[in-house]
Amino acid sequence: MKFETPAGTNPIDAMKVIGQAVDRVDGKLKTTGQAPYAYEHSEIPAKPAFGYVIGAGIAKGRIASFNAEEARRMPGVLAIVSAKNAQPLGKGSMNTAKLLGGPNVDHYHQALAVVVAESFEQARSAANAVRITYDRAQGRFDLVAQKPGAQPLTGNDADTHTGDFEGAFASAPVQVDQTYTTPDQNHAMMEPFATIAWWEGDALSVWTSNQMIAWNKRELAKTFQMPPDKVHVRSPFIGGGFGGKLFLRADAVMAALGAKACGRPVKIAMPRPLMLNNATHRPATIQRIRLGSTRDGKLTAIGHESWSGDLPGGGPETATQQTRLLYAAANRLTALRLAELDLPEANAMRAPGEAPGLMALEIAIDEMAEKLAMDPVKFRVLNDTQVDPEHPQRPFSQRNLVRCLEDGAARFGWSRRSARPAQMREGRWLIGMGVAAGFRNNINMTSAARVRLAGDGTVTVETDMTDIGTGSYTIIAQTAAEMMGLPLEKVRVKLGDSSFPVSAGSGGQWGANSSTSGVYAACAKLRDLAAQSLGMDPASVQFADGEVRAGNRSAPLADAAKSGELVAEETMQWGDLGRKFQQSTFGAHFVEVAVDFYTGETRVRRMLAVCAAGRILNPKTARSQVIGAMTMGVGGALMEELAVDKRFGFFVNHDLAGYEVPVHADIPHQDVVFLDEEDDKVSPMKAKGVGELGLCGVGAAVANAVYNATGVRVRDYPITLDKYL
Ligand code: MOS
Repeated sequence: MKFETPAGTNPIDAMKVIGQAVDRVDGKLKTTGQAPYAYEHSEIPAKPAFGYVIGAGIAKGRIASFNAEEARRMPGVLAIVSAKNAQPLGKGSMNTAKLLGGPNVDHYHQALAVVVAESFEQARSAANAVRITYDRAQGRFDLVAQKPGAQPLTGNDADTHTGDFEGAFASAPVQVDQTYTTPDQNHAMMEPFATIAWWEGDALSVWTSNQMIAWNKRELAKTFQMPPDKVHVRSPFIGGGFGGKLFLRADAVMAALGAKACGRPVKIAMPRPLMLNNATHRPATIQRIRLGSTRDGKLTAIGHESWSGDLPGGGPETATQQTRLLYAAANRLTALRLAELDLPEANAMRAPGEAPGLMALEIAIDEMAEKLAMDPVKFRVLNDTQVDPEHPQRPFSQRNLVRCLEDGAARFGWSRRSARPAQMREGRWLIGMGVAAGFRNNINMTSAARVRLAGDGTVTVETDMTDIGTGSYTIIAQTAAEMMGLPLEKVRVKLGDSSFPVSAGSGGQWGANSSTSGVYAACAKLRDLAAQSLGMDPASVQFADGEVRAGNRSAPLADAAKSGELVAEETMQWGDLGRKFQQSTFGAHFVEVAVDFYTGETRVRRMLAVCAAGRILNPKTARSQVIGAMTMGVGGALMEELAVDKRFGFFVNHDLAGYEVPVHADIPHQDVVFLDEEDDKVSPMKAKGVGELGLCGVGAAVANAVYNATGVRVRDYPITLDKYL
C-alpha cells in the first residue's frame, strides 16, 4: 500500500481503541520478570557456553604479541578466538571500526578476542590470563586540537546558504555571536549489549538486544559473508537502546565466532566497564551560533556552525538540523565540520542532531531575547514560520509551535518569572524559570506486517518491529483492534523476529507511526479478505464489536475464518508527500530550577512539555516516552559527560557509577500535555513520532532557567557547579 494522498475518513478514525490510554499489553510480563531479555532465553538447541570479550588496552597502534597459552590450559576453557585464528570477516556497512580488531587497533576497548568457557567465571579468569602487548601509536583525542583540520561534508550534511548571511549579520543592529559546547555522552541503557548465538550447519541464529532486526540480520550476513536467509535474528524484549542498539555490535559478532569455534551456543553479555569504550557514543560538539535581529525582534540572519569528530570514515553529529527549519529569517547559513579522532566510534544517540543542536541554539535565542529586552516566549512566537525557510514553497504538514509555547506559558505560570535574572530567592535557593522550543523531524520508514485471523475470532500480528521499552506491542495491538473492530484482548502481537515481515524498527522516533502504518496496511488487506470470505462487498463493509456489517447483514468476524485461517501481509510505503510538505514535530519545554546560593547545587523543581506531534496513539505510553526523554534532557543539562583521557584516548568514567544519569527522584514534578492534533499529510495513522521530541530542547530550557536563577550564563555542558564560578 502506498500512502500518497491524504485519506478522508478511514477505519482508524473510529478511535475506539486507538487514542485510548490503555496499559501496556506486555506490562505484566515485564514487571513480573517473565519477559526474557537477550541473555535469558532458554529456547536454544544445547547447553550454552559463556564468552568473555577482551577489549584493546590501547587506543591506537598494533598488537605486538598475543599469548593465550596459559589461558587455553585453564579449567573449562573451550576456545579462544582472535583475528589470528578467526575466519576472515566481511566489513559491515554500519560500523566504522572493525567489530573484531587486530592486528591493528582502531580504538580503546575494540574487541580483540573472545574466551569461551563452560562458565562465565572460567571465561573471565582465562581472559585475564591472555597476555597482549602493543606497539602504541600517537592518536588524536582532543576535538579542540583537531578542530582546525575539520572538513566540510557533502550530500545531506553539506553546508546550506540562503540569502546573504554574512552581509545581513554584519549589518544587523542587534547581534549574538557565541560558542557552545556539548560533551561526549553515552546511551547508558539498562540492559547491556547481549547475545546468545549458535550455528546449525551453515545457518546462524541469535537471541540479541537490538533496535533494528533487519539491519542486524543484513550486517551479520555481511560480516560472516553468508546469505541473509541463513541468519535468524530475534529480539522480542529490549531493555533500552537509545541509539546504542541500532547497529550490529561486538557482542553478536563475538558470540557467533565463539559458537563456531566450540560447536555450541555461546552467550555473551558485555560487562558494563567494557561497553562505554567498545560501543558507540554521542560525540562532543563545538557550536558557533550567530544571530542578527532588528531592534523590534525580527531575526534577519541565522548562522549555525558545528564541529564534531569521529574515527576516519565516520560521520558528524548533525547539530545544525533544527536550525534549518525552526525560525524565520531571510539570510541563513549552516555548516557541519568533521574532524578525525581516534576515540571510540561516534554515532546516533537519543535524538542525534536536534538534541545537542537545540542545547546550543535555544540558549542563543534566549540570549538574543535578553538583548532585545523581549520576553523569550514572545520572541520565539514573533519568529515562527509556517514554511521551510530554506524552501519557502514547502509548507509544514502541520506546525503548532506557537500554541505549544503560549499554552505552556499559561499552564506553567510563566508570567511569574522575573525578566531580570537572580531576582527570586527562597532562603538559600535562587529560583529561575527557563523555556526552549522543542523540535524534531518526523521520518517515515517503509514498514510491513502480517496479520492472521483465526477461527476463534482472534487476530495475530507478526512484524519484526521492536519494543525497546517504548510501547510498540501496545500501540500495534491497538491498531489491529481498531482496524478489525475487535477489543484489545482479541489481538496478539509478535515482534522482534527476522522471520516476520520487515518493519521500520525502532529509531529516530519513526517507529510508532511507521510500524502501525504497516499494520494498518496489512489489516486493510485482511478486511478485504474477511469481507470476501463472508460474501460481502469490501467497499461498503464495516468492522465493529467483533462483527462484520454490510447494509442490513452482519456476521461475527470469526466466521470469516471458519474454513481456515485468513492471512494478509502488506507493506506501507510512502509516496512523495515528504517533498510537498515538511514533516516535523514541535514542542515547548518549561523548566524551573533552584540553585543553592552557597554551594551551587542545582535542582530541577518543575518541568512541563507541551507537544504537537500529530495524533497520539496512546496517551499513556506517549506520556511515558516524553517523561523519560525529559529526564534524559536533565541528564544532558546537568550531569552527563564522558571524560576523555586526552593522553591515552579513552573515556575514563566507563560505568554507571562514573557516568551519572538522573532518575525519577531527581525531578519531583514533570507534566506533559499533547495538543489535540491529527496530521493527515503524514500517514493513515495521522500520527508522528513523539519520543525524541520530549528530549529536544530540554537541555537549553534548564540552562536558561539556571541563567534566570543566577545571572550566570553557562555555555559549556553539563552545567556543573564549578561553572558558576
Ligand atoms: Mo535513536 S538515537 O535513532 O535510536
